[in-house]
Amino acid sequence: MAVSSSVLAAALLIFAAAALPAARAETETRMRVFWHDVVSGPNSTVVQVAQAATSNASATGFGTVLVIDDPLTEGPNLTSTKLLGRAQGMYVSAGKDSFSLLMAMNFVFIDGPYNGSSIAIFGPNPSERAVREMPVVGGTGVFRFARGYCQARTHWFNATTGDATVEYDILIRHD
Ligand SMILES: *[C@@H]1O[C@H](CO)[C@@H](O)[C@H](O)[C@H]1NC(C)=O
Ligand SMILES: *[C@@H]1O[C@H](CO)[C@@H](O)[C@H](O)[C@H]1NC(C)=O
Ligand SMILES: *[C@@H]1O[C@H](CO)[C@@H](O)[C@H](O)[C@H]1NC(C)=O
Ligand SMILES: *[C@@H]1O[C@H](CO)[C@@H](O)[C@H](O)[C@H]1NC(C)=O
Ligand SMILES: *[C@@H]1O[C@H](CO)[C@@H](O)[C@H](O)[C@H]1NC(C)=O
Repeated sequence: MAVSSSVLAAALLIFAAAALPAARAETETRMRVFWHDVVSGPNSTVVQVAQAATSNASATGFGTVLVIDDPLTEGPNLTSTKLLGRAQGMYVSAGKDSFSLLMAMNFVFIDGPYNGSSIAIFGPNPSERAVREMPVVGGTGVFRFARGYCQARTHWFNATTGDATVEYDILIRHD
């Protein structure tokens, strides 16, 4: 009887410990990266993979799907500043009457303090607005359990080629 009640007590202790909510110290990280959509030239980082069959869709490009592997750099200049990672994913022209993109991409870091970690961004990008806010819906590595948002501002855009450099200011809370 003494044995079985101490076993029961131990089992209850283990159960109680397991049921305790994990006391997580949350970290807040702010960062700024520059995202380069290289459409023109031999080293393009954007490919169009689909478009709508109807010609009426073309005013806003509604239905067009593009896959990207865009460089993310520390500063605005693609060639002279550090490559921190790549924005890998896609954007879809999701506005029928306005120019608006659905962004679905991972920022995969390959250098700097976040090398090996990533964040997932999924949200709307009404590209003609000065500031576009998108949610950060998750992350890996140091950004596990991440949630937050980013604000995108076009830094440079060539309307002839479609090449663009966009500043992403990111605020996330994570483990
Ligand atoms: C394209 O990429 C290749 C391989 O990385 C590089 O050697 C070449 O200089 C690049 N060309 C341009 C125009 O950036
Ligand atoms: C384009 O829109 C017009 C006017 O709404 C319609 O008559 C036409 O059938 C549409 N064409 C296509 C290819 O969807
Ligand atoms: C980016 O840096 C390169 C190399 O330093 C320079 O030649 C180029 O003019 C810079 N571009 C811009 C837009 O500042
Ligand atoms: C980033 O991490 C990878 C894997 O750990 C490592 O091989 C690489 O050298 C790191 N890159 C830099 C620039 O530190
Ligand atoms: C845009 O790209 C075209 C074609 O490469 C080039 O002639 C033009 O100078 C560029 N404009 C700007 C503002 O960079």
